[in-house]
Amino acid sequence: MEQVSSPDAHHTSYARYLRLSELLSLQQPRTGDTGSAQWTDERFFIAVHQSAEVLASQAMVELNHAACSGDDGATICVVQRVGAILALLDEHLALLDHLDAESFANFRPLLEDASGGQSHQFAALFSRIEMPHCAVRPPDAAVSRELREALAALRAAVTRWRVRHLLLVERMIGDSPGTDGTDGLAYLKSLIALPPP
Ligand code: HEM
Repeated sequence: MEQVSSPDAHHTSYARYLRLSELLSLQQPRTGDTGSAQWTDERFFIAVHQSAEVLASQAMVELNHAACSGDDGATICVVQRVGAILALLDEHLALLDHLDAESFANFRPLLEDASGGQSHQFAALFSRIEMPHCAVRPPDAAVSRELREALAALRAAVTRWRVRHLLLVERMIGDSPGTDGTDGLAYLKSLIALPPP
């Protein structure tokens, strides 16, 4: 059964420019029963993760770009854009508040050992943000107060994302271990570094 109509059936320039055919062919639930409630829920789960990965990859591109600019004003604009992406990633997690834990449990075995804990992009983004000056300036460089504040806001945004993710995980799997083999909640709690008071 065709679930999604071909986005560039008429070869619109919009679809060609965004390469929608390729993009919209990538949501492939492993649930066999196409169009069923479980298939729909698994597709939702995949679409949420894929769109988060696209945003995370853009945030890394932005930080790499900021590192090339010696001008504080331009760098602050880029860092604020990354801050806006992180704020969206945080809100984006709330989408999965609309996935029933029981439904997730039904298709979770299909993930095998796949886990967000294996996301290279999130790992690279979070560790970059934890580096001195987020590596947009050398560690010992003097930075303006505005840039320092913009960079501190990124660290706070990562903590907010982690807290929201922790609450999501708690609702979804409780005390169960993660699919990447960690003990789940305890591990995720250990990653949350609250900023000093
Ligand atoms: C049903 C929803 C989710 C559950 C149950 C879940 C569960 C987990 C668990 C248990 C871990 C620890 C590693 C492991 O042993 O698997 C983890 C890590 C992680 N997950 Fe999720 N997750 C969910 C949704 C998401 C979403 C939507 C994203 C966004 C792409 C995401 C990204 C990550 C990242 C980046 C980590 C590494 C932890 C960090 O650096 O803070 N997860 N997840």
